[in-house]
Amino acid sequence: MTTLSQLIPAFCAEFPDAPSPRICQAPGRINLIGEHTDYNGIPVLPMAIDLQIRIAFAPGPGSRVRLRGDGAFFPPAEFANGHQIPASPTGSWDNYCKAAIQGINEHFTPDSFPGLDILVSGDIPIAAGLSSSSALVVACALAYLAVLDKELERDISRRKLANVLADAEHYVGTRGGGMDQAIILLGQRGEATKIDFFPLRTEQVPLPEGYDIVACNSMVKAAKTGEALHRYNEGPLTCQLIRALVEKQLQEDFGEEVRVERLGDLWSGNLCLTHPEVSDLLSKTFPKEYVTLDEAASRLAATPASIRKRWLGELPEPEHGFRLQARARHQRTEYQRVEAARDALLAGEPGELGRLMNESHESCARDYAVSCPELDQLVTVARSAGAVGARLTGAGFGGCTVNLVPSPRTASFIERVKRDYYGEFLGKRPEDFPASAVAVLSPSDCAGYVSPGR
Ligand code: GLA
Repeated sequence: MTTLSQLIPAFCAEFPDAPSPRICQAPGRINLIGEHTDYNGIPVLPMAIDLQIRIAFAPGPGSRVRLRGDGAFFPPAEFANGHQIPASPTGSWDNYCKAAIQGINEHFTPDSFPGLDILVSGDIPIAAGLSSSSALVVACALAYLAVLDKELERDISRRKLANVLADAEHYVGTRGGGMDQAIILLGQRGEATKIDFFPLRTEQVPLPEGYDIVACNSMVKAAKTGEALHRYNEGPLTCQLIRALVEKQLQEDFGEEVRVERLGDLWSGNLCLTHPEVSDLLSKTFPKEYVTLDEAASRLAATPASIRKRWLGELPEPEHGFRLQARARHQRTEYQRVEAARDALLAGEPGELGRLMNESHESCARDYAVSCPELDQLVTVARSAGAVGARLTGAGFGGCTVNLVPSPRTASFIERVKRDYYGEFLGKRPEDFPASAVAVLSPSDCAGYVSPGR
């Protein structure tokens, strides 16, 4: 990554006609527990990490947005700022900047659409489940706010910005929840953060003393822009169908109109069901493992085509139907695990946190089907190498695992993972994988502006 002191000269070399730049940065994040739940309004427990996307920026000519990046992943890009910014082809990195600018334009409805020059640098590995993409969105948003002369906290709160950007990121085609933007904008140095949604609220949670949080990269790229975009969206789309069927069940049970906007509503608001009550409700709604599209349609007094139009889109129907029972079980049990993990951290019980992380991985793999053979192998290796908890983190399908390792064992843990996973399982020579493949991460500050002197 270009260092802070190199960033300004690098910017001036890229944009010789631009005024002198400012700098902002946004951290990546690692999620300790609570996976694929945020889009249902079910809590998560991540932390911001000490890897960053860092941007030098200045107002640009007219309405032009000019993007430059240091590194092969970021080819130069340019577009016109305006009311509706047309998206580039799926997978183009400029879409993340467009998403941020469009989201802020929609929020503030400015009279004119200023230009922006941006030089992006960073050390968050791309497509590794550490949220480099949302960090880029947040950093671009901070740059654009400054050019619009809007001040964070005065003109828009961090909380509001997190919500605006969570919606804005749908521009790139993923139907993600709000975890990444929230932790990147609200995380705090030294602590993990439990995040609840609708309304967005955070609670700082201490990390266990004498333990390290270690990220291990499976080296399977899980770019949410490629194939994994469709696999990721399968989760939110399927949960919409689960939600509709559960709502129908409640209407039958209570004999009146009951609205469930998202699955998380079952535990809150007017319904405020307990975990055992939700468990009963889900067993009743999904008495068997699979639900075919035709069965769902007849249950909802709808047609398969209208179900596709409203909730499922083009999601292909698996041979035996959709595995709604298992998908719903993951949502319910993961909710309980997040709450239990928070309690374990507050009570200073790292062993319990580790146990919950292990269970979460099994649930992600078996019930939610977002793991892959490499991630499964990596958590197996990690556990035998001394991790008390090991699980996939982020969207899954590749990327990183998060591991809770007693600090005195961290050095030998890293050696064992290198030998058994990268060496034996992937068949790589030590010099063939990057040193950053295994990284001890510290909970870091949230996104903000940086003075170049720092
Ligand atoms: C991605 C999304 C998040 C969340 C995770 C899975 O990172 O951006 O909103 O859904 O996957 O927990």
